[in-house]
Amino acid sequence: MTIGQSPFTRRDFLQLSLALGAGSLLPSTATGHSMYPMQAIHKRSIPGTDETLPIIGMGTWQTFDIGEGEADRSNMRSILKTFYEMGGRVLDSSPMYGRSEDVLGDLAADLKLLGKFFMATKVWTQGRSRGIEQMNSSISKMRTKPMDLMQVHNLVDVRTHLDTLRKWKDEGKIRYIGLTHYIVSAHDDLERLIKSERDLDFIQVNFSIDTRNAAKRLLPTAQDHGVGVLINRPYEGGSLFRRVKGKSLPAWAKEWDIHSWGQYFLKFIVSHESITAAIPATTKLHHLKDNMGAAYGLLPDAKTRAKMVAYLEQL
Ligand SMILES: NC(=O)c1ccc[n+]([C@@H]2O[C@H](COP(=O)([O-])OP(=O)(O)OC[C@H]3O[C@@H](n4cnc5c(N)ncnc54)[C@H](OP(=O)(O)O)[C@@H]3O)[C@@H](O)[C@H]2O)c1
Repeated sequence: MTIGQSPFTRRDFLQLSLALGAGSLLPSTATGHSMYPMQAIHKRSIPGTDETLPIIGMGTWQTFDIGEGEADRSNMRSILKTFYEMGGRVLDSSPMYGRSEDVLGDLAADLKLLGKFFMATKVWTQGRSRGIEQMNSSISKMRTKPMDLMQVHNLVDVRTHLDTLRKWKDEGKIRYIGLTHYIVSAHDDLERLIKSERDLDFIQVNFSIDTRNAAKRLLPTAQDHGVGVLINRPYEGGSLFRRVKGKSLPAWAKEWDIHSWGQYFLKFIVSHESITAAIPATTKLHHLKDNMGAAYGLLPDAKTRAKMVAYLEQL
């Protein structure tokens, strides 16, 4: 899909409120909208293009790996619907995530939202022909042609797949190409690849308020080379919440439109200008609304980010 340039307008907001029941979807605790009712969702440009993406997306690892049962399907369908209605567009999957690609395609079709998202998936196998087979299968499961972003998962057989990705991008089968990893020890390799390959559109990496290594060199390198950045594991797989269980947010958090620990963790990340979007995953509708709230309102500056880290560390 191509995300338009238009901001989240007053008309959008009114339509959204009417569609969902004013106040029910956007309580001040979720988004700060009662304080900033005309606030536009934050978007960032994909470097080198005039296309923008909302700064909060959604991951699908485990969460969309569900069966045919209507209870699970209906829960994830309403999460996907609300994600879209709150302005979310970036969805990230992988052939490694069980049935997630299939389920995403099915649910987007149920909701008549095929073509409305920015769909990202990955290639995760060895060898050119197996990679081609796997990527064709992903495109068909996610019912997304062209695929918006195809990434080499965890750098598996990276040079082989990059050749295919470049060819497919030229042919219009995919729109953007990228590389992913989820551990700090891979950051140096990613940095080297950004410099040596020179035509990457995106990297996807781990970065959180607790694991800040990417900010040292990787994020600046991506920014200098015009590479977009998606952030995986923004909550460290959920362990950040265990760390703050029973603890209160600092009083000054609300000055930055931060109304929950989720928004504290996400706004720490997406306030970095070099980051295009973070992709938290959830199985709960109220968590999804909470996460989307981080795409609205004020974003902390560098001084406040340092204060956020210090506050967390003394808890
Ligand atoms: N190598 C790679 O390419 C790679 C590796 C890892 C991840 N990823 C991508 O990154 C995505 C995100 O990473 P992740 O899924 O590992 O972990 P994550 O997003 O850091 O954390 C997910 C956990 O946080 C909880 N959660 C979400 N929102 C919450 C909220 N507002 N309040 C409280 N708890 C909340 C979820 O539980 P509930 O279900 O209860 O909300 C879940 O347990 C993946 O889904 C995947 O798409 C890519």
